Amino acid sequence: QLLQPSEALFAGQHIVITAGPTREAIDPVRYLSNHSSGRMGFALAAAAQQLGAQVTLIAGPCQLTTPAGVKRVDVVSANDMANAVDEVIADADIFIGCAAVADYRPEIAVTQKIKKSQDTMHIELVKNPDILAKVAARDNPPFTIGFAAETHDVVNYARGKLERKHLAMIAANDVSNSDIGFNSDDNAMTLLWRDNAGEIQQTQLARAAKQTIAEQILRHAAQIKN
Ligand code: CTP
Ligand code: CA
Repeated sequence: QLLQPSEALFAGQHIVITAGPTREAIDPVRYLSNHSSGRMGFALAAAAQQLGAQVTLIAGPCQLTTPAGVKRVDVVSANDMANAVDEVIADADIFIGCAAVADYRPEIAVTQKIKKSQDTMHIELVKNPDILAKVAARDNPPFTIGFAAETHDVVNYARGKLERKHLAMIAANDVSNSDIGFNSDDNAMTLLWRDNAGEIQQTQLARAAKQTIAEQILRHAAQIKN
């Protein structure tokens, strides 16, 4: 379990990771976003690098230090993130979608600040591209890992996402407990994956620091990938 400094589990492999929230512009001074801190994705990037991988971390707006040896690409919106992934995904061996991508964006980001007028206002939202599903749908896709943050029916929803998005593996966590998950140092996870016989398997990762969880997810991926 303890990292050997020179351990090369992922030697010669390129791992691409998305992390953090995205921001969807309403006008030049306002946006829609969420409370993702980016810490789980950054922890995965650090662990992957320490396990010998070449790591590209595509990060939405978050105040975190880039892990040593990791190539970081900063993006703002879901569309920016999708484009940044497209640019680096061709030679990726593993893709981990850890970002809390905004599901919708304002249909029009107006170029001038919206002035206050009526008592109610409507903003039409349109769906963003599903970055993770698009990676998994490529010809010769990388080993694709998703995350699912759920407040209820955690395993059922995660299983649905594993199947619908054709993922190799998904890490699900229960965010109804505000003490762990989204904005905390700790996390607890259920990992689901499809075995060689096509059966969905699952295992539990007990509550631990995000750095520990990150390493466990990567070791598990290495095991079922080979
Ligand atoms: N994801 C993505 N692009 C999107 C939305 C989600 O890449 N536009 C990825 C996330 O990074 C995560 C996984 O898909 O790895 C699941 O995200 P989640 O929000 O839990 O699932 P959704 O498919 O968006 O469904 P819902 O929000 O309705 O639960
Ligand atoms: Ca979503």
